[in-house]
Amino acid sequence: MSTNITFHAGSVSAEERIGLIGQRGVTIWLTGLSASGKSTIACALEQHLLHSRKFVYRLDGDNIRFGLNKDLGFDEKSRNENIRRISEVSKLFTDSSCITITAFISPYRMDRDLARDLHQKSSLPFIEVFVDAPLSVVEERDPKGLYKKARAGEIKDFTGISAPYEAPENPEIHIKTDETDVEGSVRIITEYLEKKGYI
Ligand code: PPS
Repeated sequence: MSTNITFHAGSVSAEERIGLIGQRGVTIWLTGLSASGKSTIACALEQHLLHSRKFVYRLDGDNIRFGLNKDLGFDEKSRNENIRRISEVSKLFTDSSCITITAFISPYRMDRDLARDLHQKSSLPFIEVFVDAPLSVVEERDPKGLYKKARAGEIKDFTGISAPYEAPENPEIHIKTDETDVEGSVRIITEYLEKKGYI
C-alpha cells in the first residue's frame, strides 16, 4: 500500500492536449473467448487506423503476459489482477490521446465494469466490444490446440471449459465472428468510432 504520496497534475489540460495532438483518446476493449477473434480483429483494426495516420496502440493478452504480467496465472484472482493492471495501463494510454485497443479474454463482468469505471472517473471514453463466437465454433477453430489440451485435462482453469466466461450484457458493439469476417468486423468498429466522432 502506497502512503504519503501526492498527485501532480501537468501544465497542459486534457482538452489542450487533445487540441495539440489533434486526436482524442479512446479505449476499445475487446472481450471474448480464446480463439473468438480478438487478436485478429485488434491487429487488423490497428493496421487500418495506423494507415489512416491515427495514433493507436494494441495491448494483447498473450503478449502482455510475456512481460508486465508474467507473474500472473489463470486462476480467478490472477485474472482479476491482470485486468486491473491492463485497465490502469489502457487508461494511461488513452489519457495520452492514444486510440488504445485491448484484446483480453477478460471473462469477469465485474473486472470489465471496473475498467469502464476507471476510465469514466477520468472522463475517458471506453467502448466494450463483445467478440462473440459459440464455444462449439472456437473449439473447432482451436488455432493453438488449447481447447484440445483443456478437454484432455492438461490445462486447468481454461475459459469456457473449466473456468467461466461471463458474456457482456450491454456492450457498445457486438460482433458475431462466425457470421462476420475480419474486414467486416473492422468496418463495424470504425463506423462506430466515426459516428461518435473519435476518428
Ligand atoms: S484473461 O482471462 O483476460 O486474464 O486472459 P488473457 O490475459 O487475455 O490471456 C489469454 C491467453 O492466454 C492463453 N491461455 C489461456 N486462456 C484461457 N484460459 C487458460 N487457462 C489459458 N492458458 C493459456 C491463450 O493463448 C489466451 O489467448 P487468446 O488470444 O484469448 O486465445
